[in-house]
Amino acid sequence: MTVLVTGGAGYIGSHMVLSLLEKNFDVVVLDNFSNSSNTSIRRVSEISGRRCELVAGDIRDKELVKKVLMEYEVSDVLHFAGLKAVGESVEKPIEYYENNVGGTLSLCEAMKEVGVKRLVFSSSATVYGDVEKMPIDEDTPTGNPSNPYGRSKLMVEEILKDLVISDSSWSIALLRYFNPVGAHVSGRIGEDPQGIPNNLVPYIAQVAVGRLDFLSIYGHDYPTKDGTGVRDYIHVSDLVEGHLAAMKKISESPGVGVWNLGTGRGVSVLEMIKAFEKTSGRKIPYRFVNRRKGDVAECWANPSKAESDLSWKAKRNICDMVKDTWNWQVKNPNGYS
Ligand code: NAD
Ligand code: UFG
Repeated sequence: MTVLVTGGAGYIGSHMVLSLLEKNFDVVVLDNFSNSSNTSIRRVSEISGRRCELVAGDIRDKELVKKVLMEYEVSDVLHFAGLKAVGESVEKPIEYYENNVGGTLSLCEAMKEVGVKRLVFSSSATVYGDVEKMPIDEDTPTGNPSNPYGRSKLMVEEILKDLVISDSSWSIALLRYFNPVGAHVSGRIGEDPQGIPNNLVPYIAQVAVGRLDFLSIYGHDYPTKDGTGVRDYIHVSDLVEGHLAAMKKISESPGVGVWNLGTGRGVSVLEMIKAFEKTSGRKIPYRFVNRRKGDVAECWANPSKAESDLSWKAKRNICDMVKDTWNWQVKNPNGYS
């Protein structure tokens, strides 16, 4: 059984590939390296002691995708490929819809034409928009995400649901990630943002290691426990285990399922800084600045549906997330470069 991992050289995809290889799946990665390089996959092969097929190419190249699906006798597709920078999506909406929506359509066409019908899609908690009542369960109506990136995820979810309505032999898992952070325990693979990080944890890690001077905290007057934004941070290794559980589920029952992948715990920006200072032994200088446009005050999951349907539950806590992020950052102060 071969699993195609689109975007497998990226942050979450590379952790997924490692876990699949360790579980004895055969894996083929398709990545255009627009936000990654082949170093992650080389390291994944070194850690696992197993070979992973790597195809440099784009999910929008339908003939290439068909060739890969047939040549490697793919049974399941884990679809991570896409663009993910919220701010950039506002500047470049066409690129985001083209890649995230157009790319997924092209991938599904290729899958349909060769008869591969099991798909796990990387969605996001952003599809819920601004929700008043926490925690968020899957019955919470999807909202109006405040940017093209979020809307592209919602559009893809709707497209995939329609696909299952049209042909019930498809099996599709829509996994709504909360805030993935952390790195593999080896410290050899991790998140390697290009340029200045947009997200909190990689930003703090770069302050701690001395690459950036201080953290700007976006807002200190939110109606939260300490006035700063609250999120549900989830260790990337827990997230990956959630995918394995979803793969198992959809292999047993066709149709479409939606699951939150979060821990159910909300952590504020100030709490995250404190945890990082404790683990790294470094001071994290910070300044309060205005709220960031489009940010919600708080967002955390009710993850109980994944626990009951998939028998999956996040096991790692904030200490583990910070420890593994710091280990990766110290061992790779400049990321993969
Ligand atoms: P990433 O940018 O590290 O990985 C995405 C990978 O896809 C990269 O290696 C990139 O080169 C590749 N790619 C992009 N467009 C492609 C295309 N057209 N064809 C082939 N390859 C392409 O991002 P990540 O953090 O690993 O995220 C993986 C998925 O999870 C994305 O779909 C993202 O939207 C989603 N997600 C991420 C987060 C997060 O905070 N990291 C949260 C929710 C959802
Ligand atoms: N924050 C700061 N300073 C920074 C960066 C972030 O104070 O330099 C704050 C934000 O205001 C927010 C919290 O830290 O309160 C978390 O922000 P992130 O940018 O790390 O994460 P978001 O919740 O904004 O968004 C992330 C991904 C989205 C995804 C969403 C839900 O970037 O793509 O999680 O999965 F949709």
